[in-house]
Amino acid sequence: MKAAWHDRYGPADVLEIREVARPEPKDDEILVQVFATTVTTADWRFRASNFPKVLWLAGRAMAGLFRPKNNVLGSEFAGRVVAKGKDVTKFKGGDEVFGFSGAWGAHAEYVVVSQDGPVVRKPAAVGYDEAAATPFGANTALTFLRDFAQVRPGQKVLIAGASGGVGVWAVQIAKHLGAEVSAVTSTGNVELVTSLGADRVIDYKRDNYWETGETWDVIFDTAGTTRFAEAKRALTPKGLFLPAEFQGREMLQALRALILGGKRIMLRVSGDSQEDLQTIADLLDEGEIRAVIDSHYPLERIADAHRRVESRHKRGSVVVTVAPQALPVGKAA
Ligand SMILES: NC(=O)c1ccc[n+]([C@@H]2O[C@H](COP(=O)([O-])OP(=O)(O)OC[C@H]3O[C@@H](n4cnc5c(N)ncnc54)[C@H](OP(=O)(O)O)[C@@H]3O)[C@@H](O)[C@H]2O)c1
Repeated sequence: MKAAWHDRYGPADVLEIREVARPEPKDDEILVQVFATTVTTADWRFRASNFPKVLWLAGRAMAGLFRPKNNVLGSEFAGRVVAKGKDVTKFKGGDEVFGFSGAWGAHAEYVVVSQDGPVVRKPAAVGYDEAAATPFGANTALTFLRDFAQVRPGQKVLIAGASGGVGVWAVQIAKHLGAEVSAVTSTGNVELVTSLGADRVIDYKRDNYWETGETWDVIFDTAGTTRFAEAKRALTPKGLFLPAEFQGREMLQALRALILGGKRIMLRVSGDSQEDLQTIADLLDEGEIRAVIDSHYPLERIADAHRRVESRHKRGSVVVTVAPQALPVGKAA
């Protein structure tokens, strides 16, 4: 099968399309033909070895100390079940599914996943490209807002980086949880985040949200551009600052806030589960949330997809189309 391969860290040029062995499903696994996948900020970080300074060693331990452990990246996919192990009861051949690949490997024509892993049936009305564009951002937004921040109806929530891969979902999920949502974005994305349900939009090119005099119960910064000292000025007395991207400085501040009390900063990493992905699939099916697609690239041009992600200005997700089924009607690769 074809796969996007890299065996050293570096710029997007380290990626090449190679013929590699098709994975075989174990007894409890399904083999999925991948129709669509995406390049996420995690793919870019693992390919370029771009980890926050203080977490660099931990990042390299995960990714491979001297060279990449996982030659084929790709964490989310949508496609069709084509084979299964003998113990699989939850899925059958022909099922349309989407999910996380677990140990990477989705930048390929086939991927294997455990039947109990974060994989679920794709809602019929949702395209393969939209389904592939969902797990990473939607799951991060759901776990950060529902579980870590425990957002309640009526709370004021601010999302910084509201047009990015996590941000577009954060706006919609905060609304779904009943919050009053403010979204921070740049001029060109004001219309997009308004269409996602933001009650108020702050254009960071014109205003700093922490200088508006307003306060929020939760500030979820997906862009990694706010310092805690700034966010504190815009938090209610028991407010919470949740940065998705953090450095050593934030780790020390979190420790200090934990010991001394006051306005809180919480540093977390999202996990994934079949149950949460099913919640997300149900919300997609009900039309409560939707994917935002920045661009489509065929697998052969995956290096260009990485370059787009590296810009840090994509709108939603960068989709990689592996099979023609993934393309929206009327769109050429
Ligand atoms: N902790 C975790 O578990 C976890 C999970 C997932 C992701 N992450 C991290 O979360 C981060 C966000 O991921 P992503 O996929 O959403 O990234 P992304 O798609 O690259 O989004 C970046 C966003 O930042 C905005 N931005 C850029 N410069 C800005 C500025 N100066 N001020 C305000 N906003 C600015 C961009 O908006 P404009 O285009 O409008 O400028 C864009 O919306 C990444 O660092 C990723 O590694 C962490």
